[in-house]
Amino acid sequence: MQFTLPAHITALYPGSFDPITNGHRDVISRAAKIVDKLIVAVLDNEQKRPLFSVPERIEMMAEVAREFDNVEVDAFHGLLVDYAAARGATLIVRGIRAISDYENELQMALMNRRLRPEIETMFLMAGEQYSFISSRLVKEVIRLGGDIRGLVPPVVEAKLRDRILGERKA
Ligand code: PNS
Repeated sequence: MQFTLPAHITALYPGSFDPITNGHRDVISRAAKIVDKLIVAVLDNEQKRPLFSVPERIEMMAEVAREFDNVEVDAFHGLLVDYAAARGATLIVRGIRAISDYENELQMALMNRRLRPEIETMFLMAGEQYSFISSRLVKEVIRLGGDIRGLVPPVVEAKLRDRILGERKA
């Protein structure tokens, strides 16, 4: 099967983004340079028991996305590839940090390809200075009193302090 790139590429960057980190931001900035339009798609799945609600995650993401002209933020539920098709996206962007991410990402990419072969997945490497950052670890570090400066965008740092340290004071 020959894969021909469409003239105008709309890509999806999906994730839980609970919350967005500087690693995610770096992937967004790299992807935004490659594609015509990038839709950052926040997973709406309460079963994952997120720290931040979908509207909160969208608000933080929208603040970060403001610096990019071609980046839009939305939420999705259900199958990612169905959402991609509904939005006219032909590309899924995922960030890979270390080899440990690869196995799960490969499995998801191949499942998505099986479901909708016309949609490709593209992996981007965030800068090496972000390679150890994850939303889960950032939440753990702030909970345990560590410094998270430089790991997340300023808007997220403030919200994390309010949510985690504010709750503790109450
Ligand atoms: O940031 P995350 O949690 O690694 O993102 C995972 C995400 C949202 C990309 C993945 O869970 C997903 O695509 N969920 C939608 C459900 C789906 O389409 N599943 C089947 C294909 S693998």
